[in-house]
Amino acid sequence: MSAAADVALEKAVAALRPSEYTGALIQALLAAPQRVAGARALEVGSGSGVVLAALGALGAASLCGVDIEREAVVAGGRLLEELGHGPAAQLHHGDMWQPVEGRCFDLVVANLPHFPMTRGAPGGRWPSWSCGGVDGRRLLDPFLDGLARHLSPHGCALITHNAFVGLHESRDILRRHGLGLKIVSTILVHIPAEKIALMTRDILDAEEGRTIHRYGPYIFAEVHIVEIAAPADLG
Ligand SMILES: C[S@@+](CC[C@H](N)C(=O)[O-])C[C@H]1O[C@@H](n2cnc3c(N)ncnc32)[C@H](O)[C@@H]1O
Repeated sequence: MSAAADVALEKAVAALRPSEYTGALIQALLAAPQRVAGARALEVGSGSGVVLAALGALGAASLCGVDIEREAVVAGGRLLEELGHGPAAQLHHGDMWQPVEGRCFDLVVANLPHFPMTRGAPGGRWPSWSCGGVDGRRLLDPFLDGLARHLSPHGCALITHNAFVGLHESRDILRRHGLGLKIVSTILVHIPAEKIALMTRDILDAEEGRTIHRYGPYIFAEVHIVEIAAPADLG
């Protein structure tokens, strides 16, 4: 790799560093190892590749990742190689479901950009990291709409879901496709002031004191880990 490519990769690794959301998703996988062992696993929005690495460590049979950022595909591929998961891994550069059209998976995971904001890249991230559009649903809705087509029989998904981005709307979309949703855990994440400043004002006003908690200058938000499957398969 050239020196310039090395520098670009280093920058990508910094921008793609895992977040509290990433940790919560990995924790949920660690708590359900039976869902992962032997599974054909897909992550939509694979970023650094660390969630795929956790899936590999838990014994997933195959690891497929999709990311819209070419640098994420390179960084994720390198991490998986370094950790010995290279032979089981396939990373695709592309938009959401497009690179895996026609394929089904036993386990789909995602920590999608779904913060209600239309611009900006707080914390040295890239705009594609968090921007979920005005209502936070720009990627969440097509993800939920396409999920049933990509789950194998008895397959399931585990995703992060901001509590302030309408869980009932997600439930309605899934119901139309014969799927159900269950909250597995809820954590509080710290939202830095520069990110709150970019949040859609109506949502912030409606959610403060409900799912968003302010203590002086410090703001925390509730985030769920949600399991999605056919209603009969939800644990
Ligand atoms: C919040 S980050 C999560 C990254 C990683 N899964 C993690 O938990 O650390 C969202 C990821 O989705 C990717 N992304 C954004 N839009 C996408 C799209 N349309 N299709 C695929 N990936 C996308 C971003 O590049 C980013 O890596």
